[in-house]
Amino acid sequence: MRRQVLDVQDIEIVYRTRGGPVRAVSSLSFSVFDNEVFGLVGESGSGKSTLAMAILGNLPDTGVLTRGRILFDGRELGAASPATWRAVRWKHLAYVPQGAMNVLNPLRRIRDQFDDIISDHGVRSNQPDWKATILALLKAVHLAESVLACFPHELSGGMKQRVCIAMAMLLGPKLIIADESTSALDVISQRVVLQTLLEVRARLNAAIVLIGHDLALQAQVADRVGIMLAGRFVEIGPVTRIFDRPLHPYTQRLIASVPSIRHQHGLPDVVAADEAERKAWLSEDARLLEVEPGHFVASPSVPRQ
Ligand SMILES: Nc1ncnc2c1ncn2[C@@H]1O[C@H](COP(=O)(O)OP(=O)(O)O)[C@@H](O)[C@H]1O
Ligand SMILES: [Mg+2]
Repeated sequence: MRRQVLDVQDIEIVYRTRGGPVRAVSSLSFSVFDNEVFGLVGESGSGKSTLAMAILGNLPDTGVLTRGRILFDGRELGAASPATWRAVRWKHLAYVPQGAMNVLNPLRRIRDQFDDIISDHGVRSNQPDWKATILALLKAVHLAESVLACFPHELSGGMKQRVCIAMAMLLGPKLIIADESTSALDVISQRVVLQTLLEVRARLNAAIVLIGHDLALQAQVADRVGIMLAGRFVEIGPVTRIFDRPLHPYTQRLIASVPSIRHQHGLPDVVAADEAERKAWLSEDARLLEVEPGHFVASPSVPRQ
């Protein structure tokens, strides 16, 4: 049986701002299984990074999980001590943040940044097997050993991104969350990074939550996708079913906006949703209903039988 690595149960996340509370995520539930790539797709501002931060126990002070539970490997870590979180991060739960290439320390060589992660977890980094591990990881992300001696500015954006992925893999986590890992890259680097993530999954038997706004790109690597709109899921399902039979009007819009699909089916150019449509799609009492095994859609758009 497939094991649940991540189980998010009916969460709500609110930011406290000067202008009052901002609800960034509402009534959101989903699970991720072993060895699965789950694509989290949604437009900018739909709450993807907020959700990632909550899973990582890393919300800013103004962000509060006001409802629900997040279980990692069957354990709720929300109230865990900072020390427990530190132990869990990198080791079990790794993160490739949005704009990851900018999180590398510009003043330290790549080698030293690998060593920092290892020594932060109380392991000595000067053992020969670490050296071999790091070299194998670099190879896995198609980088040469010589990058270890480099400072970040000596590498291209795509190379830095792949360094971050190699770092995320270092301690063999069970779940990797990659936030917009390819958005800032050219098409060729995007392919290499996505391919690398798939190889990582195979190598670690890890689950990956791949966050992005480009459904067509996600579809190339994800097993399942969840479509987010304004802090909620409007549809979740196996990627093939979402493409063959998108049920929510927002998902249908997204799919129709993929040029190759649009041409293939002779669909008109996409018209952006207007406010009234968005309101209708976001009814407060919308529940995700399972319309076929594993395929969930927000209730107002479920077709009548
Ligand atoms: N630190 C913050 N304080 C207040 N509001 C925030 C903060 N971070 C994000 N938000 C708001 O929460 C919503 C979701 O943002 P975010 O999670 O960054 O979306 P995404 O990653 O999908 O672009 C947006 O409306 C955004 O303005
Ligand atoms: Mg984001």
